[in-house]
Amino acid sequence: MKILAIETSCDETAAAIIGDLDNTQSLNPTTNITSSPQILSNVVVSQIDIFAAYGGVIPEVAARSHLEAILPVTHKALDDAHLTKDDIDYIAVTYAPGLLGSLLIGTLTARTLAILWHKPLYAVHHLKSHIYSNWLQEQCIPTFPLLSLVISGGHTQIIYMPEHNHFEIIGTTRDDAVGECFDKVAKILGLPYPGGPSIAKCAEQGDPTKYPLPHPKIDGLDFSFSGLKTAVLRAVQSACNLPITTPSHELASHLTDQQKSDFAASFQSTACDILLEKLNSALQLHPEVNSIVFAGGVSANQALRLKAQKYFTNSKVFFPEPKFSGDNAAMVGAAAYYEILSGVTPVDPYQLNILPRTPIK
Ligand code: KG4
Ligand code: ZN
Repeated sequence: MKILAIETSCDETAAAIIGDLDNTQSLNPTTNITSSPQILSNVVVSQIDIFAAYGGVIPEVAARSHLEAILPVTHKALDDAHLTKDDIDYIAVTYAPGLLGSLLIGTLTARTLAILWHKPLYAVHHLKSHIYSNWLQEQCIPTFPLLSLVISGGHTQIIYMPEHNHFEIIGTTRDDAVGECFDKVAKILGLPYPGGPSIAKCAEQGDPTKYPLPHPKIDGLDFSFSGLKTAVLRAVQSACNLPITTPSHELASHLTDQQKSDFAASFQSTACDILLEKLNSALQLHPEVNSIVFAGGVSANQALRLKAQKYFTNSKVFFPEPKFSGDNAAMVGAAAYYEILSGVTPVDPYQLNILPRTPIK
């Protein structure tokens, strides 16, 4: 089986070819799937350089950049895998959620290729792809039932999966996503876009206990991150002896490099603790789970990885390889791979709707 997968939900234009790896060790008791996806090529063109100058993504510019990159990127994915269109059995594409213009470029490309090449088309939810980035490692893959913590720029959710393709959202953020919070705190500290990696780097020289920050008081498994962002803002204003009316973009110039590192480390440590505490509560409610699966851009965070390994010593914890934490098409192919093997029917390429905001399914 060979799948051409396409991803354009935000500011990465990506295409990959996923094949089939016979691997009896990955026998899944739930679905009896005895093989796992193999990456034959993986091409990602990031627009980070463009948006670093603006400090964030401009949707219209992202869509235009996808338009320029999508065909060369798709060609390169085929070339790198030494394949032609005739070798491709299926096409997969991200249809939701994401930026409207960005999703349009990927889905229109995939729909057109599916029609012209007479290939079945699979439309994949972006968060599902992030979860399935954990099936891209050959050694050891998650087993069901599992709990997934999906932490990206737009989402913070705890998802229970009894088996492939079944999702139950048991916790979600009531306001900001954790990745969004990293990005906003980075702006307060004057660190470059994207904020997550900048905070992580800056925090390396910092003391995570220097500025104690509050944990939100929310019952159940839901999250809230807007209060943490405001707490950092107030703590920075206070450390600089400035009034709370001081705009956030004026603060960074008043901070020393050491203060920035201490704020970055304190924030990162608190954000990680909030995530892991809620995930632990979910685990108490679902002691039957076999795997804990991290997914999404924030799962690249090294401090989170270290804390999680210490926190869940009795559980099997999975993180995607760092290069598959962020947006890529290999994970789209992996998610489609299990849809195909599970007998999910393809979508009609003439009818496919893009859904910028829709829950995982
Ligand atoms: O999954 P992703 O690439 O795109 C979305 O689907 O949103 O996630 C992007 C988010 C951004 O907020 C970015 O700052 C964050 O992931 N991120 C990180 C790290 N790398 C990326 N956050 C914390 N630590 C990192 N190392
Ligand atoms: Zn993503």
